Order: sequence, then structure tokens, then C-alpha cells
Amino acid sequence: MVKVDPDKCIGCGACEKDCLLSEIHVVEGKAVPTNKTCFDCGHCVAICPVGAVTPLTGEEEVVPMTAEDCRLDTENLMNAFRFRRTIRTFRDEKIDRKILEKVLEVGRISPTGMNSQEIRFVVFDKDLKELTERGLKALSALADDYLSDPASPKAMVAYSHMWKNMYRQYFEEGTDRLFYDPPAVVVVLANTKYNKLTPPIDGAIACANMEMVARSMGLGTCYIGFLLRAVLKDPSLKEFIGLKEHEELITAFSIGYPGVKYYRTVPRKKDKTEWR
Ligand SMILES: Cc1cc2nc3c(=O)[nH]c(=O)nc-3n(C[C@H](O)[C@H](O)[C@H](O)COP(=O)(O)O)c2cc1C
Repeated sequence: MVKVDPDKCIGCGACEKDCLLSEIHVVEGKAVPTNKTCFDCGHCVAICPVGAVTPLTGEEEVVPMTAEDCRLDTENLMNAFRFRRTIRTFRDEKIDRKILEKVLEVGRISPTGMNSQEIRFVVFDKDLKELTERGLKALSALADDYLSDPASPKAMVAYSHMWKNMYRQYFEEGTDRLFYDPPAVVVVLANTKYNKLTPPIDGAIACANMEMVARSMGLGTCYIGFLLRAVLKDPSLKEFIGLKEHEELITAFSIGYPGVKYYRTVPRKKDKTEWR
């Protein structure tokens, strides 16, 4: 919700035009918000050229900014996307809390459907032992289910052998092939009470953004989709991770300083875009 300072408002109508919900109108030369169904997207605050619109409900200060402040070099950015790789070998090096906070901030400010901002993160950056062990045990149990069912899809049978191997490697050899022994794991959660459709997308966008900012600071990441499967098999993991009522685990990623170097891009499938 917002308020308008009539002394400052010049009645330009920029806020009215930009409001998705048509919740603000220029009446007799001054913008008037109705604040009925406003979902606090903040566009009217951001677009006002004279700073007449201010948030009533925001939790943080808005900062003046211009396109100049965030200019991106397209070719460099394209190369960063082409060259980004999943990192599965991490150096034994802690990540400074301030660096991790920077990564998480990008996740927090990423766009969400209906501006719900109902995603949050749980960071494991001290002790990963129990999470790893419980995750691997759940995957091993899931593998037993698939391997004992003759109707299991081929891909799941292949995954099951992999999970069994991961379990053995961890408990017999001390090699972590679930999270890859990183200094930290970020788990992405979403409250899905009122919105079940967009949280997986919200979480994915936040992760993609966090990943690239992490890269800009020399960090590497690996999505751990297997954790989601582990949680589905063993729901008690939810409590261990700290899920609250109505929250779902969207995904997780390992993060740390890469202990591996890549020299070139990888091949991808050809473009399948249809132009109509
Ligand atoms: C949603 C998602 C889940 C993933 N889960 C895992 C995982 O559990 N373990 C793993 O080692 N890699 C995982 N990956 C990494 C993919 O295998 C990897 O992105 C893919 O092979 C392409 O390699 P690249 O990221 O280096 O381009 C996941 C990736 C995505 C996008």
C-alpha cells in the first residue's frame, strides 16, 4: 500500500499507467491510491519522477537508481551464461558470511508471482553431516522401492543404482556425492498456502540469480534436485531442515569455491524455438 504527497505530486499519471491493478488514479491533477488490492509491487513508488509516492507497508528503504547504475555488457553476460558450469568439486574453504549474505540478498529481491515474496532460505554452513546422512539414507530407501518394482521406469532404475553407489561411497569411503562436500548448502523454501502455482518458478528464478551473483564473486554452485526426492521419500527431513506450516522445499544448491577449472563451453541441444 502507498501514500501520495499531494504537495509533491505533479499529476503526470506515470503511476496510474504503470499500476497493474489500476489502483491509483489522477484526480484533479493529483494521484490518489485506492490501496484496495494493492500487492505492494512498488512500481508506483519507483516510477514517480518526483518521489511523491511512498510505501506504507514496505519493510525496507527504497533507493534511487538509474539505468546507468546497472548497465550490463551483453557479450560478457552472454559469455557468463555460456561458461557457467555446475560445480561438483569445492575447495576446502569457508565462505565469508558477508559474501553469502550478498548471494542471498539477490534471491530475496528476485521477482515472484503476485509479488508474493513467499520464498526463504535455510543455510547449512556449519555442519552438513546429518543432512547428508539423512538425505543419502532416504535416497537409498527410494532406490530400494524402484529396484524392487519391475514397472519402474528405466531412468529411475539408473538413478537408483547411482543413489546406492552414493550411499556406499559416503558411508564406506567418506566421499560425499550428494552435496559434494561444500562449505555451505542453501535450501530454498516457499510458503504455498495461498499460491501453489508460482513458488517453484519463484524459487528457480531466485536460484538462477543467486547462482550468477555467486559466480561474480568467484563461487560455484550445484543444484541438488536429489534433496527434493529425499524429502519426498522421508518427510521427517522437512522438520530437520526447519520447514514451517504450509512451506514446501523447492530446491537446494551447494555453494563454495570451485576446486575445478573449465577451459571451454559444453555442447547443448539445438534451438527448438517456434516463431509464429
Ligand atoms: C533443477 C536441477 C536439479 C539438479 N540436481 C542435481 C543433483 O541433484 N545433483 C547433481 O550433481 N547435479 C544436479 N543438477 C545439475 C545438472 O546435472 C547440470 O546442470 C546439467 O548436467 C548441465 O550441466 P551444467 O550445469 O554444467 O551446464 C541439477 C540441475 C538442475 C537445473
